[in-house]
Amino acid sequence: MAFELRGQRVIVRDWRDSDLPAWVAMNADPEVRRYFNGTLSEEQALGEAGRIRAHAEQHGFTFWALEIPGVADFAGFVGLLRTSYETPFTPCVEIGWRLSRATWGKGYASEAARLCLDYGFEQLGLDEIVAMTTVTNTPSRAVMERIGMTRNPADDFNHPFLEAGHPLQAHVLYRKRKGQP
Ligand SMILES: CC(C)(COP(=O)(O)OP(=O)(O)OC[C@H]1O[C@@H](n2cnc3c(N)ncnc32)[C@H](O)[C@@H]1OP(=O)(O)O)[C@@H](O)C(=O)NCCC(=O)NCCS
Repeated sequence: MAFELRGQRVIVRDWRDSDLPAWVAMNADPEVRRYFNGTLSEEQALGEAGRIRAHAEQHGFTFWALEIPGVADFAGFVGLLRTSYETPFTPCVEIGWRLSRATWGKGYASEAARLCLDYGFEQLGLDEIVAMTTVTNTPSRAVMERIGMTRNPADDFNHPFLEAGHPLQAHVLYRKRKGQP
Protein backbone atom coordinates (compact mmCIF):
# COMPACT_ATOMS: atom_id res chain seq x y z
CA MET A 1 0.00 0.00 0.00
CA ALA A 2 1.29 3.46 -0.83
CA PHE A 3 2.75 5.42 2.09
CA GLU A 4 1.51 8.95 2.74
CA LEU A 5 1.45 11.39 5.67
CA ARG A 6 -0.52 14.60 5.20
CA GLY A 7 0.06 17.85 7.05
CA GLN A 8 -1.56 21.24 6.61
CA ARG A 9 0.79 22.23 3.79
CA VAL A 10 2.94 19.17 3.08
CA ILE A 11 2.66 15.54 1.97
CA VAL A 12 5.32 13.02 2.98
CA ARG A 13 5.05 10.08 0.59
CA ASP A 14 6.72 7.25 -1.30
CA TRP A 15 9.23 8.24 -3.94
CA ARG A 16 8.18 8.21 -7.62
CA ASP A 17 10.40 7.88 -10.67
CA SER A 18 9.15 11.32 -11.71
CA ASP A 19 10.85 12.80 -8.59
CA LEU A 20 14.29 11.90 -9.85
CA PRO A 21 15.08 14.83 -12.20
CA ALA A 22 14.36 17.34 -9.40
CA TRP A 23 16.39 15.20 -6.97
CA VAL A 24 19.37 15.18 -9.32
CA ALA A 25 19.10 18.96 -9.79
CA MET A 26 18.96 19.74 -6.06
CA ASN A 27 22.02 17.61 -5.35
CA ALA A 28 23.95 19.51 -8.01
CA ASP A 29 23.26 22.75 -6.08
CA PRO A 30 26.33 23.75 -4.02
CA GLU A 31 24.14 25.58 -1.49
CA VAL A 32 22.06 22.46 -0.81
CA ARG A 33 25.31 20.49 -0.48
CA ARG A 34 27.11 23.15 1.55
CA TYR A 35 27.42 20.94 4.64
CA PHE A 36 28.15 17.76 2.70
CA ASN A 37 31.24 16.48 0.97
CA GLY A 38 30.62 18.24 -2.38
CA THR A 39 27.82 18.12 -4.95
CA LEU A 40 26.60 14.85 -6.48
CA SER A 41 26.82 13.83 -10.12
CA GLU A 42 23.65 12.47 -11.72
CA GLU A 43 24.93 8.94 -11.26
CA GLN A 44 25.74 9.53 -7.57
CA ALA A 45 22.36 11.18 -6.91
CA LEU A 46 20.47 8.34 -8.59
CA GLY A 47 22.52 5.86 -6.57
CA GLU A 48 21.56 7.56 -3.33
CA ALA A 49 17.88 7.67 -4.34
CA GLY A 50 18.07 3.94 -5.06
CA ARG A 51 19.49 3.23 -1.59
CA ILE A 52 16.83 5.41 0.05
CA ARG A 53 14.04 3.59 -1.82
CA ALA A 54 15.55 0.19 -1.01
CA HIS A 55 15.56 1.13 2.70
CA ALA A 56 11.76 1.62 2.49
CA GLU A 57 11.35 -1.85 1.03
CA GLN A 58 13.57 -3.40 3.69
CA HIS A 59 12.38 -1.52 6.79
CA GLY A 60 8.99 0.01 5.90
CA PHE A 61 10.26 3.56 6.37
CA THR A 62 12.88 5.80 4.84
CA PHE A 63 13.78 9.37 3.96
CA TRP A 64 10.42 9.82 2.18
CA ALA A 65 9.71 12.22 -0.67
CA LEU A 66 8.32 15.61 0.31
CA GLU A 67 5.55 17.14 -1.78
CA ILE A 68 4.26 20.66 -1.20
CA PRO A 69 0.96 20.96 -3.07
CA GLY A 70 0.79 24.07 -5.20
CA VAL A 71 4.51 24.72 -4.65
CA ALA A 72 6.55 21.66 -5.62
CA ASP A 73 5.61 18.12 -6.69
CA PHE A 74 8.97 17.08 -5.22
CA ALA A 75 10.78 19.34 -2.74
CA GLY A 76 13.32 16.85 -1.38
CA PHE A 77 13.09 14.35 1.45
CA VAL A 78 12.13 14.21 5.11
CA GLY A 79 11.97 10.94 6.97
CA LEU A 80 13.41 8.21 9.15
CA LEU A 81 16.37 5.94 8.52
CA ARG A 82 18.32 3.26 10.35
CA THR A 83 21.75 4.82 10.85
CA SER A 84 24.22 3.00 8.63
CA TYR A 85 27.47 3.45 10.60
CA GLU A 86 28.68 2.48 14.05
CA THR A 87 29.12 5.00 16.87
CA PRO A 88 28.43 4.86 20.62
CA PHE A 89 24.77 5.82 20.00
CA THR A 90 23.99 3.26 17.26
CA PRO A 91 21.94 1.23 16.47
CA CYS A 92 19.32 3.95 16.22
CA VAL A 93 16.74 5.53 13.93
CA GLU A 94 17.55 9.02 12.72
CA ILE A 95 15.36 11.73 11.27
CA GLY A 96 16.71 13.69 8.32
CA TRP A 97 15.80 16.31 5.73
CA ARG A 98 17.15 17.80 2.52
CA LEU A 99 15.05 20.34 0.63
CA SER A 100 15.53 22.23 -2.60
CA ARG A 101 16.70 25.78 -2.03
CA ALA A 102 13.49 27.33 -3.42
CA THR A 103 11.50 25.79 -0.57
CA TRP A 104 13.66 26.95 2.36
CA GLY A 105 12.51 29.54 4.87
CA LYS A 106 8.83 28.58 4.95
CA GLY A 107 8.69 26.04 7.76
CA TYR A 108 8.05 23.08 5.42
CA ALA A 109 10.95 20.97 6.76
CA SER A 110 9.82 21.37 10.38
CA GLU A 111 6.17 20.66 9.52
CA ALA A 112 7.10 17.47 7.69
CA ALA A 113 9.57 16.45 10.40
CA ARG A 114 6.87 16.67 13.07
CA LEU A 115 4.69 14.31 11.02
CA CYS A 116 7.60 11.86 10.77
CA LEU A 117 8.38 12.02 14.50
CA ASP A 118 4.73 11.28 15.33
CA TYR A 119 4.73 8.41 12.85
CA GLY A 120 7.94 6.99 14.31
CA PHE A 121 6.71 7.09 17.88
CA GLU A 122 3.05 6.17 17.34
CA GLN A 123 3.12 3.81 14.35
CA LEU A 124 6.62 2.34 14.42
CA GLY A 125 6.73 2.13 18.22
CA LEU A 126 10.15 3.77 18.51
CA ASP A 127 11.24 4.94 21.97
CA GLU A 128 13.82 7.41 20.69
CA ILE A 129 14.65 9.21 17.43
CA VAL A 130 17.97 10.99 16.90
CA ALA A 131 19.29 13.53 14.43
CA MET A 132 22.84 14.47 13.61
CA THR A 133 24.60 17.08 11.56
CA THR A 134 27.91 18.83 11.24
CA VAL A 135 28.42 21.39 14.04
CA THR A 136 28.22 24.37 11.66
CA ASN A 137 24.92 23.39 9.96
CA THR A 138 22.86 26.02 11.78
CA PRO A 139 19.70 25.67 9.60
CA SER A 140 19.50 21.93 10.24
CA ARG A 141 20.19 22.33 13.96
CA ALA A 142 17.41 24.94 14.05
CA VAL A 143 14.97 22.37 12.63
CA MET A 144 16.06 19.89 15.32
CA GLU A 145 15.49 22.46 18.04
CA ARG A 146 12.19 23.64 16.54
CA ILE A 147 10.76 20.12 16.68
CA GLY A 148 11.77 19.66 20.30
CA MET A 149 14.98 17.65 19.99
CA THR A 150 17.72 18.28 22.54
CA ARG A 151 21.51 18.05 22.43
CA ASN A 152 23.84 16.82 25.14
CA PRO A 153 27.39 17.95 24.24
CA ALA A 154 28.62 14.63 25.66
CA ASP A 155 27.05 12.99 22.56
CA ASP A 156 29.10 15.07 20.09
CA PHE A 157 31.11 12.82 17.76
CA ASN A 158 33.41 12.76 14.76
CA HIS A 159 31.65 11.37 11.70
CA PRO A 160 33.30 8.04 10.83
CA PHE A 161 32.92 8.55 7.05
CA LEU A 162 35.11 11.69 7.06
CA GLU A 163 38.85 11.68 7.56
CA ALA A 164 40.42 13.17 10.69
CA GLY A 165 40.70 16.94 10.44
CA HIS A 166 38.04 17.27 7.71
CA PRO A 167 36.18 20.58 8.27
CA LEU A 168 32.80 18.78 8.37
CA GLN A 169 33.91 15.95 10.64
CA ALA A 170 32.76 17.35 14.01
CA HIS A 171 29.09 16.42 14.48
CA VAL A 172 26.38 17.11 17.02
CA LEU A 173 23.72 14.60 18.05
CA TYR A 174 20.19 15.56 19.01
CA ARG A 175 17.71 13.16 20.60
CA LYS A 176 13.99 13.03 21.23
CA ARG A 177 12.29 10.38 23.33
CA LYS A 178 8.67 9.30 22.95
CA GLY A 179 6.43 11.60 24.98
CA GLN A 180 9.04 14.37 25.20
CA PRO A 181 7.32 17.70 24.32
C1 LIG B 1 18.12 22.05 6.75
C2 LIG B 1 16.98 22.65 5.93
C3 LIG B 1 15.95 21.58 5.61
C4 LIG B 1 16.32 23.74 6.78
O1 LIG B 1 15.36 24.41 6.00
P1 LIG B 1 14.55 25.66 6.59
O2 LIG B 1 13.68 26.14 5.50
O3 LIG B 1 15.50 26.62 7.24
O4 LIG B 1 13.68 25.00 7.77
P2 LIG B 1 12.12 25.07 7.98
O5 LIG B 1 11.42 24.47 6.83
O6 LIG B 1 11.85 24.51 9.31
O7 LIG B 1 11.81 26.63 7.93
C5 LIG B 1 12.12 27.47 9.01
C6 LIG B 1 12.19 28.90 8.54
O8 LIG B 1 11.00 29.23 7.85
C7 LIG B 1 10.41 30.42 8.45
N1 LIG B 1 8.95 30.39 8.20
C8 LIG B 1 8.35 31.18 7.26
N2 LIG B 1 7.03 30.88 7.22
C9 LIG B 1 6.81 29.92 8.13
C10 LIG B 1 5.65 29.22 8.54
N3 LIG B 1 4.46 29.46 7.98
N4 LIG B 1 5.76 28.28 9.50
C11 LIG B 1 6.95 28.03 10.07
N5 LIG B 1 8.11 28.67 9.71
C12 LIG B 1 8.03 29.61 8.75
C13 LIG B 1 10.88 30.34 9.88
O9 LIG B 1 10.81 31.61 10.51
C14 LIG B 1 12.32 29.89 9.68
O10 LIG B 1 13.09 30.95 9.20
P3 LIG B 1 14.48 31.39 9.91
O11 LIG B 1 15.43 30.24 9.67
O12 LIG B 1 14.85 32.61 9.16
O13 LIG B 1 14.18 31.56 11.34
C15 LIG B 1 17.54 23.29 4.62
O14 LIG B 1 18.44 24.30 4.96
C16 LIG B 1 18.24 22.27 3.72
O15 LIG B 1 17.60 21.47 3.04
N6 LIG B 1 19.59 22.33 3.69
C17 LIG B 1 20.40 21.49 2.82
C18 LIG B 1 20.45 20.05 3.23
C19 LIG B 1 20.93 19.85 4.64
O16 LIG B 1 21.88 20.47 5.10
N7 LIG B 1 20.25 18.93 5.33
C20 LIG B 1 20.56 18.59 6.69
C21 LIG B 1 21.68 17.66 6.77
S1 LIG B 1 21.88 17.06 8.43
